[in-house]
Amino acid sequence: MLTARIAVLVSGGGTNLQALMDARGRGELPHGSLALVIADKPGIRAIERAREGDIACAVIPRREPGFEEKVLTALRNYQIDMVVLAGFLGILSADFIRRFPGPIINIHPSLIPAFCGKGFYGLKVHQAALDYGVKVTGATVHYVNEVPDGGKILLQRAVDILPGDTAETLQRRVMEQAEWKLLPAAAERVAADVVAARAASPAKE
Ligand code: GAR
Repeated sequence: MLTARIAVLVSGGGTNLQALMDARGRGELPHGSLALVIADKPGIRAIERAREGDIACAVIPRREPGFEEKVLTALRNYQIDMVVLAGFLGILSADFIRRFPGPIINIHPSLIPAFCGKGFYGLKVHQAALDYGVKVTGATVHYVNEVPDGGKILLQRAVDILPGDTAETLQRRVMEQAEWKLLPAAAERVAADVVAARAASPAKE
């Protein structure tokens, strides 16, 4: 196996998906191939980005019964080796995590363990940081385990909070200064590990 086949799960704008595609275009994802995007609702901008990037895209509504089962089937059908949650706003069950054999990583827009876990997603994370009055926030890429935002941290970067910040201005700065750099770097690191592990046990090919 030359590259790890990556599925990217998205729920909205897809700017982190875009960052992965841009990294691919610059040759900064040499051990990974973006093989599938799974959108958990129709009509989101991330679906258009997948199309523009020539990546297969499945729309599997999260609120419909059998969501995780359908995602697992898609991952199997596309022979996916690793999953990247890139602005995916659902929480995957322990059963799902047990059943998908490869690594799953997630980007979260705070310095975990602050402002994370159930209920902390999107702009809510930045509003909580502003309400608390912290002066520094950031983003974290971590492995996904059965505890929401609780898996081992892969990469983290701090971002200053500035006077007059709103949740929106802060979200934008965290994306630009941290998320869009960290996620491709972490995806490449994990993809390289997947490729190395396969090379060490070629019988599984
Ligand atoms: C990003 O800020 C991402 O870190 C966050 O949602 C946004 C999605 O933006 N994810 C979470 O809050 C997960 N708990 P995008 O769709 O433009 O990548």
